[in-house]
Amino acid sequence: MSSIVNAVVNLDLEGPVISRHVYGHFAEHLGRCIYGGFYVGEDSDIPNEGGIRLDVVEALRALDIPNLRWPGGCFADEYHWRDGIGPKADRPVMVNTHWGGVEENNHFGTHEFMALCELLGTEPYISGNVGSGTVQEMSEWVEYLTRDGDSPAVRERKANGREEPWKVKYWGLGNETWGCGGNMSAEQYALEARRYATYCRDYGDNKLYRIAAGASDFSYAWTETLMKQLSHLGCQRVERPLYQAVSVHYYTIAGTWDHKGSATDFTPEEYYTTLHKAARTDELLTGHANVMDLYDPKKEIGIVLDEWGTWWDVEPGTNPGFLYQQNTMRDALVASVSFDIFHRHADRLVMANIAQTVNVLQAMILTDPESGALVLTPTYHVFRMNKGHQDAASLQVHVVGDQPVKDVDGAELSTVSVSASRKDGRLLVSLSNLDADEAADMVVDLRGGSVTGLAAEILTAAAVNAHNSPEAPEAVAPRAHDGARIEDGKLFVHLPAHSFVTAAGDLA
Ligand code: AHR
Repeated sequence: MSSIVNAVVNLDLEGPVISRHVYGHFAEHLGRCIYGGFYVGEDSDIPNEGGIRLDVVEALRALDIPNLRWPGGCFADEYHWRDGIGPKADRPVMVNTHWGGVEENNHFGTHEFMALCELLGTEPYISGNVGSGTVQEMSEWVEYLTRDGDSPAVRERKANGREEPWKVKYWGLGNETWGCGGNMSAEQYALEARRYATYCRDYGDNKLYRIAAGASDFSYAWTETLMKQLSHLGCQRVERPLYQAVSVHYYTIAGTWDHKGSATDFTPEEYYTTLHKAARTDELLTGHANVMDLYDPKKEIGIVLDEWGTWWDVEPGTNPGFLYQQNTMRDALVASVSFDIFHRHADRLVMANIAQTVNVLQAMILTDPESGALVLTPTYHVFRMNKGHQDAASLQVHVVGDQPVKDVDGAELSTVSVSASRKDGRLLVSLSNLDADEAADMVVDLRGGSVTGLAAEILTAAAVNAHNSPEAPEAVAPRAHDGARIEDGKLFVHLPAHSFVTAAGDLA
């Protein structure tokens, strides 16, 4: 049996632009994300440039990733950037206390990160250390990276082989400062954020976009405290608010933090609970945005959801501190539903960063520690299929009449999710059917324009827990979808059970 879902899209009524940065990424010194994931060192047999894996770079370039957040996460608040510059043999070893207590040799540091961003064609987003660092240390990192001319930090950079300053826009003022980033109260951190922000300077035409470390989940009071502090500025000479955005973190888990559940072996109940939790991202963003509206009705301060995604129990036999998990069709649907929500919040959401890009949590890429083989996950394919939404004008999708729902944990989950956008004369519609067993048929009345040359792609699999591995790298892979057509100004799309479809065409 298949449900029919009707919707209307006005092609000529453009909404706010979907920032490409909501397709952002996150790479922490955690498990095998940096070492073994992005970076194998110059002496590795795996083809690399300056130690950076070229197969990983090639796979990620196909996603057009807009930014990469680094070095953490919790790691950021224990990271002292000067440990990661200069000759590698002289760099001190530190203990990565958060993530497995492993020794970190600091071979991947500032210059290696900036080289990685250049190879990826992406913008850096650096998370500074508030928890165990100093204002001076953070201030000098900004100067080292972005100042031209002659000053102690600039001379230091030049001595390390980099003459020209880099461009760095996105700057995080700490991470999870309510927890691993210093266990502070909101009031205490808000004052720290103002102080740190003051000394993170704009050099030349490098204008920082400072991101205050925000709330966990639905802690709206944290956001309110940060917003209040912004409206209490003393110095009239400050042209812009001290920080330009506040962050929030939201992870999707099916169980509890002690028992998050398996990535691949889950019940139908856990499947729907997961998707319901992902769908609550809408409530999350609405709640934080409502608080911000009170203090900033013009929406000048952005929300940065700089950690999101699924978090499961680690794969059996792997280091619990490494957060290595498989990635199934369920994860892909968490991603596709989350993107629909991000698109709907384009007026306030300026950035989102999936946690994390390689080998950690809801990764795009998994690499085999023994053979080095690289596997693209189902989530990777959602990012690739959706990349046309980056910097596109959002289009509202009005669902008309009934839509299929499931009762999940005492609430209703709509099992069909849709979003649309237009850019450069192209329409892109993304559609997810979350029902594990039933198909759905979507009929979208396209008003205010016409669409030609429709092409559709589908991502689905035999089961919701299907996933890719070195032995079966294409168990979940996109293919052309012949179940989409335009007829009489309407877009008809057949959505098999647990599927994600994108349909794109030329607008006239
Ligand atoms: O992404 C893994 C961890 O989750 C990050 O280090 C931290 O910020 C969050 O708690």
